Order: sequence, then C-alpha cells, then structure tokens
Amino acid sequence: MTSAQARDGAVALVTGASRGIGLAVARSLAESGHRLVLTARAPDALAAAVAALRADGAQAVGCAGGVADSGRAQEGVALALREFGRLDVLVNNAATNAPYGPLMDADLTRWREAFTVNVEAALRLTQLAWRAWMSRHGGTVVNICTEGASHVGPNVGAYGTSKAALLHLTAQLAGELAPLVRVNSVSPGLVRTEMARFVWDGAEERLAASLPLGRIGEPQDVARAVAWLVSDAAEWVTGADLLVDGGTRVRAAAGTTAPHAVHERLRAAATDEA
Ligand SMILES: NC(=O)c1ccc[n+]([C@@H]2O[C@H](COP(=O)([O-])OP(=O)(O)OC[C@H]3O[C@@H](n4cnc5c(N)ncnc54)[C@H](OP(=O)(O)O)[C@@H]3O)[C@@H](O)[C@H]2O)c1
Repeated sequence: MTSAQARDGAVALVTGASRGIGLAVARSLAESGHRLVLTARAPDALAAAVAALRADGAQAVGCAGGVADSGRAQEGVALALREFGRLDVLVNNAATNAPYGPLMDADLTRWREAFTVNVEAALRLTQLAWRAWMSRHGGTVVNICTEGASHVGPNVGAYGTSKAALLHLTAQLAGELAPLVRVNSVSPGLVRTEMARFVWDGAEERLAASLPLGRIGEPQDVARAVAWLVSDAAEWVTGADLLVDGGTRVRAAAGTTAPHAVHERLRAAATDEA
C-alpha cells in the first residue's frame, strides 16, 4: 500500500464530478482505491463520467442533482451508505462563478445563489456526512476554494467573497470536527476547465509566460493534491489550505533569480567600477 492509498473499502463523495477538476479528483481517488459517489446536475454527462470510470475498473455510482438541493444532497449521502455501506471522504468541488461583474451591478438573488452553492451546500453536505458516518467512524473533507479567494479582482466579487467564506468555513469546521474528521481545502490557480475557459482560451501562451512554473494548471494537478490530503500521508494536516497555482501567488518575485546571467553581469560591472 502506498502512502496515498485509500483505507480498505473507503468511499468518497465528489460533487461536480462529471468533468473538469471534479472528474479528475474522482479518477485520482479511484486510482488510490476509493469507491465513488459522483454528483452533477446534467444526468447524461454524469452517467458518461460514471461509465468511463467503471470502464477503467472503478466502483462508481452517480447521483444527479444540484449541490444546493437539500433533497439531492441527502440522497447522495444515503446512496453512499446504501450502495457501499460507508462514507469516508467528501470533496466539495461543485461551484458557480456567477454573478460576474462589478458588485454595484450585482443582482442580490444571484449573489445569494453564489453563497448557497459555494458555501452553504458544502456545510450541508459536511453535516450530512458527519451525521451519517463520520461522527462515529471519522473521515476527511476537502473543499475546493480558489487562489483568488485571498485577493480582489475585477468582476469576480461574488465568486471571490463566497470562496473566502468557504476558506473560513474550512478552518472553522477543521477545529470543530477534530480529531475525528480532518477538513482542508485546495486553492487552485487557473486550470484548464470549462469554468475557466473564458480566461485561458486564446490567451494561454501569455498566461503561461506570466506564471513562475510556466504553464496553466491541468485538472490532475488539483486532483493529486486532493488525493494526498485525504490520504493517511496527511494524517496530521487539518485546517490547511493547499495552494496549487503554478506560483501565481508568488509571481511578483518571479525571474529575480532565474536569469542568473543578468545579475552576474550587473555584479561583474559593479566590481569592475569599484
Ligand atoms: N478552473 C479553474 O481555473 C478554477 C480555479 C480555481 C478554483 N476552481 C474551482 O474548482 C472547482 C471545479 O471547477 P471546474 O473548473 O472543474 O469547473 P467545470 O469544469 O465547469 O466543472 C464543474 C462541474 O461541477 C458541476 N456543477 C456545476 N454546478 C453545479 C451545481 N450547482 N450542483 C452540482 N454540480 C454542479 C458541473 O456539472 P453540471 O453543470 O452538469 O452540474 C461539472 O461537473 C470549483 O469549485 C471552482 O470554483 C476552478
């Protein structure tokens, strides 16, 4: 058993898992031995994702429905217990980045929806998982936040504010649920998915050049971080936010060391002058 291997028979529920980061997380957890419950709204895309995972040997079932629908959330957790008899891992991944635009123009009904989907649904599912299984047997929760939650940006005020709330929720729950349940988050930078297509499509070369690690993210970059956080290799980690952003957060200092030649020339010139 590798350090990232699931405990025997472990079961994971991953929301928003029909494509993008959620599907990569599901795949990665399947590879480490988890049995899976996947959710997403569009039933056909969800069924296709479940079928693809099964074709690769995973034990997976789907539960179609919006993450903010309390009935469907209950059914997702009940399905894990009914189908597999346990629920060890919860990955709150589904999110909305709407409403997009300046906050002074934000429709407050849509603003509330951002919080319902991005924050409240994560809390509800954690409560359900806790009551159904984790309060007696333990478990781990990972919330997918965003690198952007820690700073402001144009047009993403509702998204950023709700994800900042999700970060705080992560820390609060980590304290409340320890030592039985570990609760952590992963904060991705720009990742090649549908949700972020409007950012990277047509601009990838420029964006990659602006990142210290030289490329935008792939869903697997985030999935590997989630797989580590839920594994026993991270058994002493709770309340953490794992930044998976290709260096986005540190890019202001990028290039100050790498172009050694420039600095060496400047240093040599200074020595010559002295
Ligand atoms: N991509 C990035 O650059 C990036 C950066 C930072 C953070 N993130 C975060 O990463 C997570 C995954 O995003 P992604 O980029 O992988 O998005 P994506 O490619 O658009 O995939 C989103 C997935 O979630 C499902 N979904 C969307 N709304 C849902 C809802 N209300 N209830 C249930 N399922 C829902 C979608 O299927 P249906 O539409 O059929 O429901 C789909 O399976 C999100 O939390 C996002 O905020 C992404």
